[in-house]
Amino acid sequence: MTYTPFDLTGKTVLVTGGNRGIGFGMAEALAASNANVAVWGRKDAANKEAVEALSKLGSGDTKAWSVDVADESAVVEAMADTEAWNGRIDSCIANAGVGFGAPSFTDMDTETWRKNMAVNLDGAFWTLRESVKSIVTRAKQGDPGGSVVGVASLAAIEGAARNQAYAATKGGLISMLKGIAVENARYGVRANAILPGWIATDMTQAAQDTPVFEEKVISRVPIRRWGEPADFGGVAVYLSSDASSYHSGDTFVIDGAYSIF
Ligand SMILES: NC(=O)c1ccc[n+]([C@@H]2O[C@H](COP(=O)([O-])OP(=O)(O)OC[C@H]3O[C@@H](n4cnc5c(N)ncnc54)[C@H](OP(=O)(O)O)[C@@H]3O)[C@@H](O)[C@H]2O)c1
Repeated sequence: MTYTPFDLTGKTVLVTGGNRGIGFGMAEALAASNANVAVWGRKDAANKEAVEALSKLGSGDTKAWSVDVADESAVVEAMADTEAWNGRIDSCIANAGVGFGAPSFTDMDTETWRKNMAVNLDGAFWTLRESVKSIVTRAKQGDPGGSVVGVASLAAIEGAARNQAYAATKGGLISMLKGIAVENARYGVRANAILPGWIATDMTQAAQDTPVFEEKVISRVPIRRWGEPADFGGVAVYLSSDASSYHSGDTFVIDGAYSIF
C-alpha cells in the first residue's frame, strides 16, 4: 500500500497573503502537492509573479485575486469568485497580516491599533466566515469536509513589547479558530492556528538588518537560524490534506524551539 493523503489533487486551497513571505512558502508546497491554489494579495505585480512561479509546480491550477482583506465587501465578492473557480473551496489559510508597532505601549495611538485590527482580525474574521460558509453549504449538500487555518504568531502567547496591538490580534485569531473548530466539526470542518516564531520575510526585514537582533535573539533559537517561508510548506499541506481529518482546534508552534528555550 502506498500512503497518498499528501497528494492534494482535486482540492482547492486559498492562501491569503500568498504572493510572498510565509504565504508563498505555503502556496509553493500546496502547488507542488497538486492542489489548485488560489492566492489573494493587494499588489497585482506580486500576485502575477507568484502565479507564474506556482504554475510551474504540480498538476493543479493557480489563480490570483487582488483583494484587500480589510474590506468586507471585497472579501465577500472574492470568496464567491474563488469558490466559483473550481466549484468548491476545500481549505482556506488566513495568512495575510501586517505588524504596526509603536515606540512604547503608552505612545501607541488608536490609528496604529486599528491598522493592526483591520487586517489581522477583521480581515481574518471575514475571510474565515466566508470560507466556512462555503464549506458548510457544500457539506449540507452531502459533501462534507474542509480545513480553515489562521496564521497567528508566538506573540499571541508570549505578548510583544511595543507591539501589543499586533499580539492582541493574534490572540483573538486563535480564540476565533477554537470556536469555529467546535461549532463546525459536525460538518467535517477543522480549524487550526499556526504560530510562527522569527521568520525571514519582508515583515521582519528591519530586524534582519539589525546585527544586535541577530546576536541577542536569533542566537537563542535552538535550531540556530531564522525560519524560512519554506518551513511552513509541510504544515500547510498536512492541514489541507485528509491526513489531518481528526486534528482540529490546535495551535502549531513553528519556531525552531525558541519559545521553550
Ligand atoms: N515573519 C514573521 O516572523 C512572522 C512571525 C509570526 C507571525 N507572522 C505572520 O505570518 C503572516 C505572514 O507574514 P509574512 O512574514 O509572510 O509577511 P510579509 O512578507 O509582509 O507578507 C504579508 C502578506 O500579506 C499580504 N497582505 C498584507 N496586507 C494585506 C491586506 N490588507 N489584504 C490582503 N493581503 C494582504 C501581502 O500581500 P500584498 O502586500 O500584496 O497585499 C503579503 O502577501 C502574517 O499574518 C504575520 O503576522 C509572521
